[in-house]
Amino acid sequence: MLKAYKNKSDNWSPQSWREKEALQLPYYADLDALAAVTKALEASAPLVMPSDTRRLKDLIAAAARGEAFLLQAGDCAESFAEFHPENVRATFDTLAQMADIIAQETGKPVVLNGRIAGQFAKPRSDSNETQGGITLPSYKGDIINGLDFTPETRKPEADRMLQAYRQCAVTLNLLRGFAAETDREFFTAHEALLLPYEEPLTRTDPATGTWHASSAHFLWVGNRTCQPEGAHAAFLRGVANPVGIKCGPDMTPKALLRLLDILNPANDAGRITLITRFGREKIAAVLPQLVEAVQQQGRAVTWVCDPMHGNMRRAPTGHKTRATADMIAETRSFLGILAAAGATAGGLHLELTGRAVTECTDDNISEDALPQRYFTHCDPRLNAAQGIAFARHIAAYMKGV
Ligand code: PEP
Ligand code: CO
Repeated sequence: MLKAYKNKSDNWSPQSWREKEALQLPYYADLDALAAVTKALEASAPLVMPSDTRRLKDLIAAAARGEAFLLQAGDCAESFAEFHPENVRATFDTLAQMADIIAQETGKPVVLNGRIAGQFAKPRSDSNETQGGITLPSYKGDIINGLDFTPETRKPEADRMLQAYRQCAVTLNLLRGFAAETDREFFTAHEALLLPYEEPLTRTDPATGTWHASSAHFLWVGNRTCQPEGAHAAFLRGVANPVGIKCGPDMTPKALLRLLDILNPANDAGRITLITRFGREKIAAVLPQLVEAVQQQGRAVTWVCDPMHGNMRRAPTGHKTRATADMIAETRSFLGILAAAGATAGGLHLELTGRAVTECTDDNISEDALPQRYFTHCDPRLNAAQGIAFARHIAAYMKGV
């Protein structure tokens, strides 16, 4: 039986999160600038339409039934510097190729949901960074502050939200063109971290009267901000978009069920995607009990594997990296654990770029080679060849599970 969570949706507003404790949000010193940006965002066009958002939710429900496969992938953090139509094209082409490989092997249509056109704001373990005895705020993504280690660049500036919004609009325009050219559907996703950006982009759908986040089709709550009583869950509760919950090693069945009560009181199929990110070592100890809790209570969820965020290592060069072997091992465990429980593996969540970067290691890229083309603003991404090889490997493996 579902515990009824009192969903006072009548009282919910895009500002409701402000009554809760909000982790990871920047401190904007210039409140006048923040107010002006909020007003400008409120007046700007929605980036996505509710009908497309509903369509994605239906496709995610199909993935939970094993009738489709969700591929969520793209940058860890989009940046202003890396933005170029050719880079958007390269990432789109990589995702499309991966989708075709998975579709061909599994016989399931692949739903493309890019971490793009909005994936800008980053949670950080430490709010400050110290270099050479100087301490400054950590870099939190180009929508908040800049990567250079100077006091001016590291200061959160509200105006950056407008630059990010404009980049999102242009990126979406390109993606829609590429999707039309290849007769595909393409949806966008990002972590709903920066609530002062999400709030003014939340709109009512005239057709249904429900609230929708218009910054992307799919929003997720991150591993560091998924407290059931926190501001980020309070925000996502009120929007009708499909939403994701990152589930890390600290996620307990109790906290997960509470989050499901809050975010999906009607137990609507397609509404919730559980994006698991435990690491190859920890997955076997944590995932089975979450699957069991969800199944016992009959909760509608779509299980997706993020084999990136639990498998970070630091190379001797100091670069953050991930080994593709670790990612493959975690994904195989994920598939095996779900199959053993009679649950469906609904998709994959990856960090990748179409650029020929050297950020993750494999048989061809050793830790020594990482500095050659290491461009990420945050976590290490698979390059195009690595993404395609990963898709080939996992698609072939899925046939056998
Ligand atoms: C991310 O997806 O880039 C991220 C920060 O993930 P997580 O919240 O799972 O750590
Ligand atoms: Co990341």
